[in-house]
Amino acid sequence: MDVELRELMQAFVLSDYQVQEVYSRFCLEIAKGLRRSTNSQSNTKCFPTYVQELPTGDEMGKYLALDLGGTNFRVLLVSLKGHHDATVESQIYAVPKDLMIGPGVELFDHIAECLAKFVHKHNMSSAYLPLGFTFSFPCVQAGLKEAMLTRWTKGFGCPGVEGEDVGRMLHEAIRRRGDADIAVVALLNDTTGTLMSCAHRNPECRVGVIVGTGCNACYVEHVDNVDLLDAQFKRKEKQIIVNCEWGAFGESGQLDFVRTEYDNEVDRKSINRAQQLFEKMTSGMYLGELVRLVLVRALERNAIFKGAGNRRAEYAAILQHNIDIFETKHISEIESDTFPELANTRRIIKQLFGIEKASVEDCQKLRYICECISSRAATLVAIGISGLINRIADRKVVVGIDGSVYRYHPKFDTYIRNTMHKLVKSDKEFDIMLSEDGSGRGAALVAAVASKTK
Ligand code: BGC
Repeated sequence: MDVELRELMQAFVLSDYQVQEVYSRFCLEIAKGLRRSTNSQSNTKCFPTYVQELPTGDEMGKYLALDLGGTNFRVLLVSLKGHHDATVESQIYAVPKDLMIGPGVELFDHIAECLAKFVHKHNMSSAYLPLGFTFSFPCVQAGLKEAMLTRWTKGFGCPGVEGEDVGRMLHEAIRRRGDADIAVVALLNDTTGTLMSCAHRNPECRVGVIVGTGCNACYVEHVDNVDLLDAQFKRKEKQIIVNCEWGAFGESGQLDFVRTEYDNEVDRKSINRAQQLFEKMTSGMYLGELVRLVLVRALERNAIFKGAGNRRAEYAAILQHNIDIFETKHISEIESDTFPELANTRRIIKQLFGIEKASVEDCQKLRYICECISSRAATLVAIGISGLINRIADRKVVVGIDGSVYRYHPKFDTYIRNTMHKLVKSDKEFDIMLSEDGSGRGAALVAAVASKTK
């Protein structure tokens, strides 16, 4: 790779020392989050989820599930069939941009409307249906059924929801319509859904991770280590799933020594400034944007499209005036390309700048930029996963993962494993499994556990 570009991208390459240092800081943060006396100073809030039983695989019954937390929202009907088996029917609904930042009550009315239509379509309007609500934002829970939103993330910003119980808000929206007999029996995070759905298939699963629009993880912790948990929840069960909310890591400056000027710029332009800094280096909502900002700089420094002469300034202007024009899915497409066709890369360059057939050299440079940004993201995610695995007493730990970045990027899994091999304690064994529909199946499983507990 040519020297200018290599120099430019150096800021994204984490040295072994930096990896170790981020790892130590992350572990400290989780320990602080778990302790009542230090929780308020920690970024990673380590919320107890009140999910204390992992699935056995024998769970049965029909459950509704709702999945809100990314660009789409889904309604699902999950039939748990015992023998580790389940079927899922689902419908995707868009969340219009104005609803993402409009009054909260309108968002919940929209959800209740979609829910009623779905139930009607499946001829279940008169049936009693328990519902598990996968609500993928940071929430303080007081039990399985209550979840108070602490802050919106991922571009959502509806007023009137922070500080409120989202289970109650959904319940009230369903009641206002009065056309379905649905009871909200459990609220959960998508990471919990991922862990539960993977544990349903593989009982060694102890960690659930999402690398999608947002980024976060949960894991199974011994109740004695969860200082935030009241004694009554420590009597019967000895474990609990803890939602780390690791996306917030770095808000006290712990990542400043590795953050770049581009990370600062992404943060400055976001609707949640100075928040979710780890998430802004690792998740789908931001990775494409990082590439866009780096490309502008590379064009200014004559480090890419060298043959384009004056047109380089035009390309830079296109990128500067169109926020989000470079999508995270482009990174996966570019890194999936095969030589010598480079079909995805050429199509994307044409879409962006109108260049008919970009040179191999420019294609390779763009790919290099993408690789530096995606491998840094994977390294950071691996640091977090390793920190959690090393806290768990079991010798073998399976990690369930989902999310568009992990799922569609051709090398994210390899990048993660490479770093994990360096950080997971040598007496431990780990594996990673792709989750199948954690937000649906996982929500039904938590609802099933909730019904059993009741
Ligand atoms: C949210 C988490 C969620 C993650 C992945 C983050 O922005 O705070 O609750 O698990 O995104 O969807």
